[in-house]
Order: sequence, then C-alpha cells, then structure tokens
Amino acid sequence: MVRLMASAPTQAQTDRARPRATRPDIPVVEFRDVTKVYDGGSVGLERATLKIGRGEFVFLVGPTGCGKSTCIRLLMKELEPSKGEIDIAGKTLGRIPRSRVPYLRRNIGTVFQDYKLLPNRTVYDNVAYSLQVIGETRQEIRRKVPDILRMVGLSTKLHSLPDELSGGEQQRVSIARAFVNHPPLLLADEPTGNLDPETSIGIMQLIYRINRTGTTVIVATHDKEMVDKMRRRVVELREGRIVRDEQSGLYRPDESTTEFAIRLRGELGVGVEGHPN
Ligand SMILES: Nc1ncnc2c1ncn2[C@@H]1O[C@H](COP(=O)(O)OP(=O)(O)OP(=O)(O)O)[C@@H](O)[C@H]1O
Ligand SMILES: [Mg+2]
Repeated sequence: MVRLMASAPTQAQTDRARPRATRPDIPVVEFRDVTKVYDGGSVGLERATLKIGRGEFVFLVGPTGCGKSTCIRLLMKELEPSKGEIDIAGKTLGRIPRSRVPYLRRNIGTVFQDYKLLPNRTVYDNVAYSLQVIGETRQEIRRKVPDILRMVGLSTKLHSLPDELSGGEQQRVSIARAFVNHPPLLLADEPTGNLDPETSIGIMQLIYRINRTGTTVIVATHDKEMVDKMRRRVVELREGRIVRDEQSGLYRPDESTTEFAIRLRGELGVGVEGHPN
C-alpha cells in the first residue's frame, strides 16, 4: 500500500525509509582492525582499518605479497578474517551464513587478471549465464545482454568463443559479465595484469565508466603509472599493513570518460584504441 505524505519528507525520514545498503551515511565497505593469518602462518593482512564510501574509486597497491588479493577475497567472503570485522553496506560478513553468500555475491561484481570465462560458451552465453544463475527471466536476459555487450564495445562478437578474442576483448567480456546486473560494488584484481598499456587504458576507461554510474570500485593493481595518472584514492599495503591512504589532490570527479581516456593516452604516450568507449 502506498502512503501519501502530507508534506515533503525530511532528509532523516528519507534515510530511514531507504534500505540500509543505499544510505549514503553507511560506508559500502568497512574493515575494522582486520587481520588475516593463513594456515601455515603467513600474514595476508594485519590490523587493517578502512572505510570506502558510495561511488568511490579506490586503488589497492603495493608490492607482491602485500595483501591486495587477500583484501579482495575477504570482501567476497571467500576467506574469513582471523581477527576483526568487515562490513559491506552495513552488514557484517562474519554474521552472514554460508547459505546467504550467493545473495551477497549478487551485489558484488568481480573481475580478475585471467578473465575466468567459460571456454566452451560464446560471449553472449558467458554474460547470459551470470543472469541465469540468479533466476533472471529469458526476456530480461535477451534485453540486458546485448545492451551490456554494446557498452563494452563487443556488439559484433556475440557469437565468438573466448579463444577467438584478444586478451583485451576477453577482459571486456568479463567486465560485461560482472556489471550486467549493475551491482553496487565492483572488485577487480589486476584487471590489466595481462594486457599491454594501450589495451589497459581501454579497460580502465570502462571501469571508470562503471564507477561513473554510481558503482563503488576497488581495483588491486601493480600498475603504478596507471594509478598515478588516474588520480583516484590510493590505499597502499606493505606486508599486510595499510601504510598510505591518499585521496589524490588532483582528483576531478566530473571528468568524463572520454576526457579521461584522452588525458591518460596523452600522459602515458600511447595511441588511440579502436573501441568506442
Ligand atoms: N592461500 C594462501 N595460503 C597461504 N598463504 C597465502 C595464501 N594466499 C596468500 N598468501 C600469503 O599472504 C600474503 C599476501 O598475499 P596476497 O595474495 O594477498 O598478495 P598480493 O598483494 O595480492 O600479491 P600479488 O601482487 O603478487 O598478487 C603473501 O605472503 C602470500 O604468500
Ligand atoms: Mg594478488
């Protein structure tokens, strides 16, 4: 039943009515004193405390073994912290039962260095699959998949198999798959790790475009030059500890995706890529 209000609601009323996940005052991600010690004793993360707000774009950087993938895997609830707590949109991951984890993962898009595509399925089917598993109707799938593949610049490759695509194209498919459901949080672990600088710019432009729709983005990467040029928040890890958390002073939140790509290409000194993103 719809209840009409006599006058415009106050901000507090609006906030109370909103589901917790969309309230701007609740961080999308919060680590509270999180430590992860693996079986065998290696330290993945040590006493990490961090808040990431709605719509932020955050890089996780640091040398190999510093704990970047550990952070990503903790957020996916693939790992449990040894100490401390992690919240996503106000929900503590440690209190989410195993049976509810698939529901959590519907709200988190993931992109990896090695794409993780189904090798015997077409581009279309790889993306459609992620909607099928959450029970989307056939009609919705037929509408959403071509739309998202257009967004990532792959309209002409719907029927190709992954091994018929370049690395950059395969990564575009994996981004389409991660974003087709428009999750509020996107996690990317070394998304440009296997790609040349030119292709990497196209991929980062696409991830930035997703961020511009309001999705919070966390990217773990080694690509120092790209991170510097992107001018976004940088969280640096060393041996599992957060040693720097810096909001770039040069950050221009209104930079369009086209301006972004032109600037990056200019600053990184690479040519124009053939994708319309
Ligand atoms: N499954 C595991 N079992 C035991 N130790 C692990 C495991 N995964 C990671 N580690 C250890 O935890 C530490 C952090 O690893 P993590 O994979 O998070 O680093 P990373 O920053 O992602 O490194 P890279 O840049 O090489 O991807 C390392 O010392 C690593 O050896
Ligand atoms: Mg890693």
